[in-house]
Amino acid sequence: MVDESTGTGRLCVLREALSSSRLRRVLVAYFVFNLAEWANWIALLVWAFDRDGVRGASAIALVQLVPAALLAPVAAQALTRLSPGRALWLGYVSQALTQLGLGAALLVGAPYAVVAGAAVLYSVAMTLTRPAHHTVVPELSETTSQLTASNAATGMTESAANIAGPLVSGLVVALWAPGGLVVVMGLATVGTALGVSWGLQRASGDVGAEDDGDTPPPAPAPARAGIRDVLADSSARVLIVMVAAEYVLVGMMDILLVVLALDVLDLSDAGPGVLNSALGIGGLVGAAFTFTLIGRQRLGPALLLGALAAGIAFAAAGLVSLLVPVLVLLAVSGSGKLFFDVTCRTFVQRLLPDRLLTAVFGLAEALMMGGLAVGSLAAPLLVHAVGARTTFLVAGSFLPVVALTLAVRLRRMDAACVVPTDVVDLLRSVPALSLLPERIVERMALEARTVAGAPGEALVTEGESGRHFFVIAAGTLQVSRGDDHLRTLRPGDWFGELALLRDVPRTATVTSIGPSRLWMVDREAFLASVGATSATLQAVWEHGNSRYR
Ligand code: CMP
Repeated sequence: MVDESTGTGRLCVLREALSSSRLRRVLVAYFVFNLAEWANWIALLVWAFDRDGVRGASAIALVQLVPAALLAPVAAQALTRLSPGRALWLGYVSQALTQLGLGAALLVGAPYAVVAGAAVLYSVAMTLTRPAHHTVVPELSETTSQLTASNAATGMTESAANIAGPLVSGLVVALWAPGGLVVVMGLATVGTALGVSWGLQRASGDVGAEDDGDTPPPAPAPARAGIRDVLADSSARVLIVMVAAEYVLVGMMDILLVVLALDVLDLSDAGPGVLNSALGIGGLVGAAFTFTLIGRQRLGPALLLGALAAGIAFAAAGLVSLLVPVLVLLAVSGSGKLFFDVTCRTFVQRLLPDRLLTAVFGLAEALMMGGLAVGSLAAPLLVHAVGARTTFLVAGSFLPVVALTLAVRLRRMDAACVVPTDVVDLLRSVPALSLLPERIVERMALEARTVAGAPGEALVTEGESGRHFFVIAAGTLQVSRGDDHLRTLRPGDWFGELALLRDVPRTATVTSIGPSRLWMVDREAFLASVGATSATLQAVWEHGNSRYR
């Protein structure tokens, strides 16, 4: 077994994760998405600036941000009805179509209302991708370490796009036109949609490929949780608040970098771009650091570190009036921000069940845009009221203060991610469950609760509706139907799967003969786990066929 706390071990994990062609396709698509996000933002700003000056540029920025922020939770709620792969595909298709529409409107010189309408449609379509991407990545990961490696790779693609985006955009706008840039990105997105859909078809072809009469019907899909379930989860709330705080800082950064470049450092018009590139290059360094998260148990301290570096270095950059130290501090801030982003996502994916992810990331997307809007509205007001330096201090201390306030909660959340190895071992000893990827068994173990059976107590009763699946840790139980004794179950045996898989009432009564101890997993977690691979579903099905009469 590789030691994942060493550089070589981490590289091995990364290589394993990237050996999946589905993951590679999804990462390429995500790179194009990030590039397109930059390109279209710049194309619209240039177009609006040429038309109506600075006012036009800020108006079109708001036209994109506000409806998208308001509609993102609605879109996320709708996405929870689809499988993550399909949601991702739908995201790319709708982006490709809306980008091509927007590009055409710009190229033919359509009236303002038409361009603005197309921009709104496009920015709402953009809100679908990030939540779907961050939900698909865990599905493609066999182990928790692979998941972390895939997140680090996602961070790398984001930071590479942050650097390439402005360059590519500048080049295409200079050679052609803003509308041309949007069309180019629309066509690239058509390519990514095709790539992702091809990967998706191959994956769905895996389930029940040959019907030889002994093939199980597909398990009922576990209900995917909605926004309300997310808000009811205190850990999800903590992480979402952190993301919102981060984006208030990002919103303020955009404005404050212009102030820093032009008013404080007295740079030319290219100054804000130079300062932004320092953030971008720092992001690449931060992304490289995220590989150290592979194999790491506790993420709370890493999250705090990212928040402190992003905020404090930014505040310090506002206090120094020399270009080189400012560039270094901004690079540190950019690296902290990216490190924070990847750690936060990984935390969410480790802590919460997969079925909650679309809704969590959807809500985070809305709050990101809300945070951006608040930050970019607050920054000019604060600069006016208290001056640039104090505004830098306020902006830079906001995220660290929020993170430090939540530090105790983060420590508790770290403890909740520690996988109970005895339960994992017990679940792995069940032949059908041993076929599941390690990450899914660990997820099941995290969600399992222990129950004690008293002598003579029925743990499930024939005819009742079923809510749980059970694995026996200690004791002996008896399965009966009516007055017939069917079987005696011992440690390592399991029961309660039929009602969940077939959506029928309990087919038998299971009674504890003496005192017993069991682990139980609720319906949603069981269906999500067993349905994760066709081999597991098949094994559970065959178990019933061979043992039950
Ligand atoms: P379920 O119907 O959900 O609840 C009762 C459980 O008893 C059922 O799932 C199976 O796990 C188990 N069961 C049903 N019939 C038999 C049988 N003939 N032999 C052993 N176990 C059984």
